[in-house]
Amino acid sequence: MKDEQLLNLLDSMTLEEKIAQLVLLTGEFFDSEERSIGPKQKIGISQDVVDMAGAVYNVFGAEEVTKIQSDYLKKNKKGIPLLILADIIHGYKTVFPIPLGLGSTWNPDLVRECMEIVADETSASGVQGTFSPMVDLVRDPRWGRVMESTGEDSFLNSAFSSAMVTGFQGERLDASNRSIASCVKHFAAYGAPEGGREYNTVDMSERRLRQDYLPAYKAAVDSGSEMVMTSFNTVDGMPATGNKWLLQDILREEWGFQGIVLSDYAATQELILHGVAEDESDAARLAIEAGLDMDMKTSVFANNLFDLVKSGRISEGLVNQAALRILRLKNKLGLFEDPYRGASVQREQATLLSDGNRKMAREAAAQSVVLLKNNNAVLPIQSDKKVALIGPYSDEKLLCGMWAIQADYEAVVTLKEGMERLAAQASLFHAKGCDILEDYSVLGGMAKYLSVDTSPEDKEHYLRDAIQAAEQSDVIVLALGEHMFQSGEGASRTELSLPDHQLALLDELSLLSKPIVLLLFTGRPLVLTGLVDKVAAIVQAWYPGTEAGNALAELLYGERNFSGKLSMSFPHSVGQIPVYYNEFSTGRPLSVSGHSERFVSKYLDAPNAPLFPFGYGLSYTDFKYGEACLSHPSLNFGDAIQVSVDVTNTGELSGDEIVQLYIRDVTGSVVRPVKELKGFVKVNIEPGETTTVSFNINEELLRFYTIEKEYKAEPGKFIAMIGTSSDSFVEVEFNLLP
Ligand code: BGC
Repeated sequence: MKDEQLLNLLDSMTLEEKIAQLVLLTGEFFDSEERSIGPKQKIGISQDVVDMAGAVYNVFGAEEVTKIQSDYLKKNKKGIPLLILADIIHGYKTVFPIPLGLGSTWNPDLVRECMEIVADETSASGVQGTFSPMVDLVRDPRWGRVMESTGEDSFLNSAFSSAMVTGFQGERLDASNRSIASCVKHFAAYGAPEGGREYNTVDMSERRLRQDYLPAYKAAVDSGSEMVMTSFNTVDGMPATGNKWLLQDILREEWGFQGIVLSDYAATQELILHGVAEDESDAARLAIEAGLDMDMKTSVFANNLFDLVKSGRISEGLVNQAALRILRLKNKLGLFEDPYRGASVQREQATLLSDGNRKMAREAAAQSVVLLKNNNAVLPIQSDKKVALIGPYSDEKLLCGMWAIQADYEAVVTLKEGMERLAAQASLFHAKGCDILEDYSVLGGMAKYLSVDTSPEDKEHYLRDAIQAAEQSDVIVLALGEHMFQSGEGASRTELSLPDHQLALLDELSLLSKPIVLLLFTGRPLVLTGLVDKVAAIVQAWYPGTEAGNALAELLYGERNFSGKLSMSFPHSVGQIPVYYNEFSTGRPLSVSGHSERFVSKYLDAPNAPLFPFGYGLSYTDFKYGEACLSHPSLNFGDAIQVSVDVTNTGELSGDEIVQLYIRDVTGSVVRPVKELKGFVKVNIEPGETTTVSFNINEELLRFYTIEKEYKAEPGKFIAMIGTSSDSFVEVEFNLLP
């Protein structure tokens, strides 16, 4: 449809019809009129609004979606199709690693390809848009949603943010039925709740917001994301959903965003609980005036905008503008021509969990796993070794994380299945050891659905079998972890340890004095300080998705090498949080200060550094860095210089190294971070081979928000650091000339 026709359509719509376009409801409302009575009563919405509503979310499957759309179109007088959205975060049926695992790949190209597959599977099943990517910067692992982010760094997150949007939408979203519309979230700064407590206040300086938190959302907008979801939290005292400065001044005016802004789940209503709106009418006014186009899961827009317009408290223009944005997206998706967008059961059969999709899931899983420790080369496991595979995650299919809501768990390859494929049968002994949890109350309200009641006798059996298996083996592979619902939304924690009974299992097994390879399935960095010395190796597996077992087995048996590196620091203790690599310089740094040892910035009872830093991850081979060299010692505005380093594989195996460039701005008009990631590249290097890795540095890379809040670089001295992690690098100085 031409834009002119859309404008005519808008003109022909009643105010009620236009308002209904701004309403986003869950699938239960589109069940039969009788069955949807409960949900309608609960939020106080009429059948008339449902019959004209603009969008539905979290309905799945070509058959169901087609039915919903065709039933809807029979009633919709103007023939405007429903927009069908869903939470498809890192996989539909084929599930890729959780985003924190994808972050550990440091491979945006790979992640883009993964999201192309996600889009293909999702669109085959009738869904037209996803509430993804979630690009909230995260520095506090107490917050459960760190699993949904790619990590603590804005440069790395921005690269993934663009890659994901491009993966979902293609270069430009169009009627091609293989792409889906992307909705970047949660705008803004949801990842910084005070105390790591879910839905808590966010409050930070504008400089930090702009410098660290906003870039990844902007990267999504610049890559064409069609939608933006507001966050639950406050930004400078105003909840994002009613925050005009955020939604108008920054998003629309500064960034030129023209797509749809939608609220997170019931966030319009929460404006009342936040205490910035008196009632639902006030909340509707505040939100639409702030720039919100679509209201998720409430009747705040549906039941109040009409009176607000009719009484002259808001202009009809606001409603028109929002409705037009929604119609435009529908048009871009080609819904007026094909409201089903080519979804079909046949396409689902050919696409979902196809061999190619699974192959990519295995590749992503393998690249996402991080080897944190490997003493005496206990890994890779040699083929003559007998292995005891023990632990609640040793033969578990729940390896997709909390947000893979459509995962096909039957299709998930467990660790045991993966290892059996590679190990001689006689050399693998398996025992569960214990359940994931003993005390399900740690899951709060979800405990009642998920509790497993294992008898004391069975628990004893589990333990006895585990010890027996371990006794027969040369090496113990111990698969422990959080319950998948201990991370994700609503899963903040103050203790970041494994459940006590899992730790007790580890202690029992340590008594046998056999090397233990600890595999960790978690949605966040845990505090591993007490564990590190008890085990020979640690493998951070995150939740690797459908191909988990195959990817992990290949890594453990050395069929492929580890390459993953952390995109979020692992704290030494909970009291250190937030701990992240790009902290600001202090006046009393631990390393160089004229003050006595006591009066410098440090803890009495813990180091300043995290246990495992950002960018860290081991390989089966070793990489040696030569000196950092500059093409020129000084840089002019408008020019570029190159910094390069020779990296040699000094080990015996081929390996992928993620070479990282950090830059420190030595003196600024405001305090600058001790270092900032400014480049990275993944290179494959054969044993004995040397590769020269170069990065371009230009003025643009050195920009920041100055004392005048201008985004620009300031002349002066800089240090470029190139290395294997944020705390291991070679460095060289250069100058930016005035
Ligand atoms: C989450 C969003 C999600 C939405 C819809 C909310 O609770 O914060 O990330 O997209 O629910 O399911």
